[in-house]
Amino acid sequence: MSILRGKHILLGISAGIAAYKTAFLVRLLVKTGAEVRVIMTPSAKDFITPLTLSTLSNYPVISDFTDDEDDNAVWNNHVELGLWADLFVVAPATANTLSKMASGNSDNFLIATYLSAKCPVYFAPAMDLDMYKHPTTQKALETLQSYGNILIPSTFGELASGLVGMGRMAEPESIVETIEQHLIEGLPLYGKKILVTAGPTHEAIDPVRYIGNHSSGRMGFEIANSAAQLGAEVVLITGPTHYKAHYDSIQTIPILSARDMYDAAHQNFDAVDAAILSAAVADYRPKFPALSKIKKKNTTLTLELEKTEDILASLGEKKEKQILIGFALETENEVANAIKKLKSKNLDLIVLNSLNDDGAGFGGSTNKISIIDKDLNQKDYPLKSKSEVATDIINELINELNA
Ligand code: CTP
Repeated sequence: MSILRGKHILLGISAGIAAYKTAFLVRLLVKTGAEVRVIMTPSAKDFITPLTLSTLSNYPVISDFTDDEDDNAVWNNHVELGLWADLFVVAPATANTLSKMASGNSDNFLIATYLSAKCPVYFAPAMDLDMYKHPTTQKALETLQSYGNILIPSTFGELASGLVGMGRMAEPESIVETIEQHLIEGLPLYGKKILVTAGPTHEAIDPVRYIGNHSSGRMGFEIANSAAQLGAEVVLITGPTHYKAHYDSIQTIPILSARDMYDAAHQNFDAVDAAILSAAVADYRPKFPALSKIKKKNTTLTLELEKTEDILASLGEKKEKQILIGFALETENEVANAIKKLKSKNLDLIVLNSLNDDGAGFGGSTNKISIIDKDLNQKDYPLKSKSEVATDIINELINELNA
């Protein structure tokens, strides 16, 4: 899933030949899941038709302060549009538009909206090489960047004039990638790697049967998605579940048993900044799993069970710089038991689910948690969706990483 999904993007198109490429740019932005609205300078319409862009963006294209509808002038509100935007992209940004942006000369709808927008502004210059080299243009580029606008550099190559040099607008794919990368680098977990465990484990009785539990894995997947959404690279070790991770930055490692999960967690732990262990790991497994299917013979069958590895505790013994977060699922003396686990497993935070709370715990779409830190500060949260609970946990992790 792209970081641009759900974002409101304003695309401002000024009058250069590169405007013909904005059809592809609109298409790519819409494909990320963003909502895209197009503003054109009046002369930009000589290079690409508003009909093309309105069809691709699913919104009318605006190029003037008023639209005439049956002789009734309709005012286009540049302030409202500027505030609607999460991102403003000016592409192509001609020498004329750059100069107007730098000086605040708002004699067209695009510049008036630019001055009204409070969001990050990206601009992709496009012009002939001598115009690009001109000190006036260079000064405008500098000024715009000094105001916090983000330059998507022009590239070197053949220009519409037939000359070869700097001034080609960046390709639409590269514009989208630059914006995505810039946004990702600004996220609070950018550069951080996080291990998450999720789901149940299956402990073999024989080749066709196992001991398992009702964990759906949803809480762990929500945590992984929430961490990835905030820029983290995630290693998600998961028992059997039908959930799928939403982001390319989540590496999913499917496992079956507690032993597999233990091995995968230890293989990855040294390289991570934090680990959140939300899996419902089986505490016991059959000591002697049968190699072939057990046939029914007697009226009773006794299975000898042995303890599985406590993954959380083993990581607690090993941890150096990592923030380690565990879960506690309790039915009695909830807080006291959670604190005991926090201390005995050397955790930084413990997330307590009480099975006594309606809507908390396994299976469902909601959860009700408390988070307790090493200094025994306790935060109690109301019943929320698992996705909101994941956000709360990740926000606490960010506080710990920044502490
Ligand atoms: N956990 C683990 N490995 C296990 C068992 C549990 O990593 N073999 C982790 C879980 O992922 C969770 C935490 O330990 O983060 C607590 O699990 P829970 O079942 O509540 O506690 P236990 O330590 O197993 O203790 P008990 O079942 O006795 O309450």
